[in-house]
Amino acid sequence: MLSLKNVSLRLSTEEREVTILSGIDLNFERGKMYALTGPNGSGKSTLARVIMGIQSPSEGKVIFEGNDITSMGLTERAQMGFGYAFQHPARFKGMRVLDLLEIAMRQGCDTECTCLRNIGLCPEEYLERPLDSSLSGGEMKRIEIATILAQDPRVRVFDEPEAGIDLWSFERLISVIGTSHDQGRITIIISHQEKILKMVDEIILIESGKIKMQGDRDSIWGQIYESARCACRENCKKEGENYAECTR
Ligand SMILES: Nc1ncnc2c1ncn2[C@@H]1O[C@H](COP(=O)(O)OP(=O)(O)O)[C@@H](O)[C@H]1O
Ligand SMILES: [Mg+2]
Repeated sequence: MLSLKNVSLRLSTEEREVTILSGIDLNFERGKMYALTGPNGSGKSTLARVIMGIQSPSEGKVIFEGNDITSMGLTERAQMGFGYAFQHPARFKGMRVLDLLEIAMRQGCDTECTCLRNIGLCPEEYLERPLDSSLSGGEMKRIEIATILAQDPRVRVFDEPEAGIDLWSFERLISVIGTSHDQGRITIIISHQEKILKMVDEIILIESGKIKMQGDRDSIWGQIYESARCACRENCKKEGENYAECTR
């Protein structure tokens, strides 16, 4: 079990202090797949960074299998079996696709070739390619997802894996994330995609840094669909009035 207990995050910008996450309580159970969804800027990637130890919370705790891991950083958590496919994967100058996969390899794939094939990239074409701007955003996303599959982590966070990925690769991606999940793992997918929201066990909706809804997929899906139809946001006001046109 992975738990976030009353996690808040405040950051100071030049002008003011902003609250990015506020009083987050969540439990992730082994064997379950979760979708974390919500509007742009609601705090999804920040929450992923807190889970991965990239960002320390201002308040609250992160507990994994009974141990308080709040003060552990990214490297320690990676060693414990946490893996994160970033929303915007980094391009590593001077490295090839093969080098990245070799670093990541544990027991997830038999070879670097199968890792790439699993996500629909031809190894013969890609293994020797440099990890630079010659790779498109969608190719980088798929290569990073391949490294997570190679790494075979127990806690996996995929941040908008669908971004920039074509329809054909998307189908394969969903399938490979689903089949590589098992009873020993926690899989968290940050996504807005209906297909992803419909394949998980539980959906968590975050808005303005707070958990708005959470629960099993079928009960939450209908409510999310309804709320997404309303263009109004709580904090969208003009002269004290709700500003966005709302058709509800
Ligand atoms: N380092 C930072 N300094 C100030 N604001 C930040 C910082 N990181 C994120 N934010 C803000 O926090 C909010 C949540 O960001 P993010 O977690 O990336 O949202 P999401 O992934 O849901 O689109 C956004 O309004 C973003 O601008
Ligand atoms: Mg994000």
